[in-house]
Amino acid sequence: MELTPFLDELPIPRYLKPKKRCKDYTYYELTMREFYTKMHGELPETRVWGYESQVPGPIIEAERGERVRVKWINELPEKHFLPVDRSLHGSHEHNPEVRTVVHLHGAEVEPESDGYPEAWFTRGFKKIGPVFDREVYEYPNNQRAAALWYHDHALGITRLNVYAGLAGMYIIRDEHERLLNLPAGLFEIPLIICDKSFNDDGSLFYPRNLSDPPPQGVPDPSITPGVAGDFILVNGKVWPYLEVEQRKYRFRILNASNERFYRLKLDSGQPFIQIGSDGGLLQRPVELTEITCAPSERLDVIIDFSEQPVGTNIVLTNDARVPFDFGAPVDPETTGKVMQFRIVELQSPDTSEVPRFLSYIKRFQEGEAARIRDVTLDVTNDSFSRLKFLLSNREFTDCITEKPILGQIEMWRIINQGIAVHPIHIHLIQFQILDRIPFDTATFNATGQLRFTGQPQPPSPGETGWKDTVQAPPGFVTRLMMRFGPYTGRYVYHCHILEHEDYDMMRPFQVVEPGFSCSSEAQEGKSE
Ligand code: C2O
Ligand code: CU
Ligand code: CU
Repeated sequence: MELTPFLDELPIPRYLKPKKRCKDYTYYELTMREFYTKMHGELPETRVWGYESQVPGPIIEAERGERVRVKWINELPEKHFLPVDRSLHGSHEHNPEVRTVVHLHGAEVEPESDGYPEAWFTRGFKKIGPVFDREVYEYPNNQRAAALWYHDHALGITRLNVYAGLAGMYIIRDEHERLLNLPAGLFEIPLIICDKSFNDDGSLFYPRNLSDPPPQGVPDPSITPGVAGDFILVNGKVWPYLEVEQRKYRFRILNASNERFYRLKLDSGQPFIQIGSDGGLLQRPVELTEITCAPSERLDVIIDFSEQPVGTNIVLTNDARVPFDFGAPVDPETTGKVMQFRIVELQSPDTSEVPRFLSYIKRFQEGEAARIRDVTLDVTNDSFSRLKFLLSNREFTDCITEKPILGQIEMWRIINQGIAVHPIHIHLIQFQILDRIPFDTATFNATGQLRFTGQPQPPSPGETGWKDTVQAPPGFVTRLMMRFGPYTGRYVYHCHILEHEDYDMMRPFQVVEPGFSCSSEAQEGKSE
């Protein structure tokens, strides 16, 4: 199938209006529905699942400290339109086929509102998962201004629900950021990037299996090690264009793809000015001619079009291979394109600024860690010889091994002895990347000994702020620093390649009160 690039205008997701606003909180309802939408001018309508019948969903905007309550409502059909693999955790026959639970990615929230994968619910809350606790979630928004995103997180089918369209942006704002006078209003634009494949009738294509027909005895449908689409979409349209005035714009970029990383560049050769990452503003802006964005990472960038002549067309390009970064090269004519900017005349003077100092970030020091934990990224074969990804060789349902103490600083060493980059995400907190140290993977695989082979590499300038997802490259120990809090309870950390997360690269962790005893720890371990 071929589709003409830059045919459709970029849609801008709208801000959602609350159902109720009172002194103590703001209340929203978001309903998940099945509907049909045109993802490209030359495509028939595509069946999707979206929040408030939009793909991506509407933007929820909150002020720092504003208490937001959201009732997430499931009005989806009872059958999935994408291939559900019943052999995965959470998807076994006794469980309903369509389950949903919403996670606000990057948010500091209580465990009961975090969207634990087993806190799922079906249409009308008719059936609920074992960890379901409440219908209305509460988001305190006591954190820096940042672009977060909400998306489905149901155990064993997250990849399908997100691919079907269940994702949207959530923006926290604060006074500090407003005073910086960054480009705002019409000149602040979310770019939610994902990739999809289509059948000729316009329906979404998601592979049923690694090969067709699948090898004898292998479940059908069956999860695969990763799914990347043939077309790149921004805000729900394939290769859109956007008219931009000769001025500065602020783009809130989110990679909402299942597997695909993007290495973004502007074919005009001009740089991005990165001002923020997952958890909010950087300390200072950094100029970059290319930026890599892993699944679920957010980039807050300024692009200055003021020097571009009217009538110029600039393409946002991508050259990241899938799997990242060792798969086949991308085709510059298709997945090598993301979107196009068309320069039009300036309508009114650009009074916005990019200050040289954005926000103060106190960096954690290595010595502050009260505890060091190692997490290995592993791959094994299941009984059908399918690839199965694991964290520290454990499955999601194995008992909890990480119990950080509330308020304590920990260092996590993500040890990647494999061949792919995995984007590792931790719920509840924002962390800092301390460094990445190369190590001898052969020795590690043979003996479990970590032998470093070079100097620690500091995070790249765009990674020196707050992060909730980190690219953990093969052959490196990626060291993270974080303080656990402000809540206790059970959360998850996982790879954000959704096919890995679903099978089975996700683990629970539990933040505990100081003084939480080993005996209660042992007991809990048993009951899991
Ligand atoms: Cu964006 Cu646990 O996920
Ligand atoms: Cu998250
Ligand atoms: Cu992974």
